Amino acid sequence: MNDIKNRIERLREALDEHNHAYYVLSAPIISDHTYDEMMRELQQLEVAHPEWADPNSPTQRVGSDLTEGFTQVEHQYPMLSLGNTYSEEEVREFYDRVARTLGEPFEVVAELKYDGTSISLIYERGRLVTAVTRGDGVRGDDVTANVRTIRSIPLRLRGEDWPERLEMRGEVLLPWAEFERLNREREAQEEPLFANPRNAASGTLKLQNPRIVALRRLDAYLYYMLGDGLPADNHYDNLQAARRWGFKTSDAMRVCHTPEEIMAYIAYWDTERHRLPVATDGIVLKVNALRQQRALGATAKSPRWAIAYKFQAERAETRLVSVDYQVGRTGVVTPVANLEPVLLAGTTVRRASLHNADIMGRLDLHLGCRVYVEKGGEIIPKIVGVDRSESMDGAPVAFISQCPECGTPLVRVEGEAAHYCPNEWGCPPQVKGRIVHFVSRRAMNINIGPETVEALYDAGLVRDASDLYDVTPADLMRLERFAEKSAKNYRDSLEISKQVPYARVLFALGIRGVGENIAAKLAYAHPSIDALAEATVEVLMQTDEIGEKIARSVVDFFAEARNQTMVSRLKAHGLQMALAESDDDGARSDELKGLTFVISGTFAHHSRDEYKTMIERHGGRNASAISGKTDYLLAGENMGPAKLAKAEKLGVKLLNEDEFLKLIGV
Ligand code: IVH
Repeated sequence: MNDIKNRIERLREALDEHNHAYYVLSAPIISDHTYDEMMRELQQLEVAHPEWADPNSPTQRVGSDLTEGFTQVEHQYPMLSLGNTYSEEEVREFYDRVARTLGEPFEVVAELKYDGTSISLIYERGRLVTAVTRGDGVRGDDVTANVRTIRSIPLRLRGEDWPERLEMRGEVLLPWAEFERLNREREAQEEPLFANPRNAASGTLKLQNPRIVALRRLDAYLYYMLGDGLPADNHYDNLQAARRWGFKTSDAMRVCHTPEEIMAYIAYWDTERHRLPVATDGIVLKVNALRQQRALGATAKSPRWAIAYKFQAERAETRLVSVDYQVGRTGVVTPVANLEPVLLAGTTVRRASLHNADIMGRLDLHLGCRVYVEKGGEIIPKIVGVDRSESMDGAPVAFISQCPECGTPLVRVEGEAAHYCPNEWGCPPQVKGRIVHFVSRRAMNINIGPETVEALYDAGLVRDASDLYDVTPADLMRLERFAEKSAKNYRDSLEISKQVPYARVLFALGIRGVGENIAAKLAYAHPSIDALAEATVEVLMQTDEIGEKIARSVVDFFAEARNQTMVSRLKAHGLQMALAESDDDGARSDELKGLTFVISGTFAHHSRDEYKTMIERHGGRNASAISGKTDYLLAGENMGPAKLAKAEKLGVKLLNEDEFLKLIGV
């Protein structure tokens, strides 16, 4: 037995080592094949010996399919932001201010400002225990399960001179190449594109399924160490120690002794940064000595010992040719500028988003005027200004008042920036868009693309999703693009779609505001579509995470006669319109009625998500943060100390998992 345990440990150590060589040092030692074989052996041993499971084992990097709602965790030290500067002059002012306050020599560490999403990693006794997003700076989301999938973040530290408890902060990034790959994939699957790698990184960290996160290949650079008993008395040496422990730190850090050295660093990276594999948007300057950092202190928002210098976004000037308006599936109208082609940061730009009527209005555009376009890490460039020294003689561009597709007067919901076309049933892009959404992979996964939906619509064969099930092979063969084989594929996928679970059917209906997660919540709380259709706004709002806006949108959907007809026709075609046994085989009771729970930490018997579902099924409510309204804190291992303190302060009762299971009679 001990031999096996030793073998497991040796494999883990070796795989950690190779992981570090590959993802942190970019210098692999063994072939991918050998690596895969070792991984497979470890996986097999772990399956055979669950008693030696370890959440920080290298096998856990692939992510588990269990979804975990995010719990909020309070940061031990608040996550401040940095003051921004945009010119050499402001950098010099920062330098002089520090010199005046300290009245003694000091060093400044210059480093790159990575443009991703910040993360705080907590290590206890050399092991990763929690990873938390910045959130509002005071508390963030516990995204540990997702962060474990990031290969360049060590799960177990190397060496042993690390402090008992250590916090590392850094930036989670999606490298350019991955970002482009992801967007190409999303384009092919008709999913909305990410505007820039930063949004893609933060969106990915917030995904509910760590297995999907693992596929996205996030990377991370660490740039700040906190805690008691740090190895050195200055920032630079601490980061060198971090590098020894296995963290990816930047190679671009420099210790500067004069403002001139800082300016040279800025000038160098201003152009050189374009060769880096990840996005950067500036540099960060930090006073090196920790003692001097403490002497300088912080304001409520940012430290006085550090500052960011932002690079100028890349900008080009060109001519505005015209403005188009696009109508989406939900009726939102987006203005898009057509430009005279211009080269910007390596690509030719022909179109730029104008976002909405307000943003467009502020620019005061005229046809043919000269405009400035900027990229700033976005794939869709934006117009940031107009060159008023040039001719503004063209006709002023005013936001349209009627839908460009169907002529209906547009409406604007108070308090929202967007204009809508309210002609939900007669405006072609809306009708087609809803059907395209219905057939999409994550919804009903029916084997046709947007062009076919368009052809079926143009031929008058479909007006809503339920019509798809009445289209015959003969109908299809009449559309020239359809051969017998693809007609059969289509019919087959329609049949298969009848097994798609109720929650996904709800998502496929395209009710405004009802994404995949919300659809799942609604499905559990209202286990049949008839029950859901009868629920009032008040009842719906008692569902976890459903606010008034979504509740109203659900009620409005079912109040519409055309939707009622569509739903009953879909039901007649045999789609799943209720939770099936297999979706919901757990016990139910009213045992927890009126009680609000917060779940924190990790558990041995069930996943956090399973506990959430149990709470719901026994009539309780889940909340994400502890407040005066919380009745119980279901506390697992590795729960944050801040959360515990808060629960104690508010007199919230603590339950461990056994006590909880007893409570619901399991
Ligand atoms: S240091 C107290 N260093 O920029 C100092 N931040 O507005 C904490 N960032 O939220 C931050 N690269 O997400 C630091 N080399 C770097 C950075 C960096 C990117 C981000 C970070 C922070 C924001 C500051």
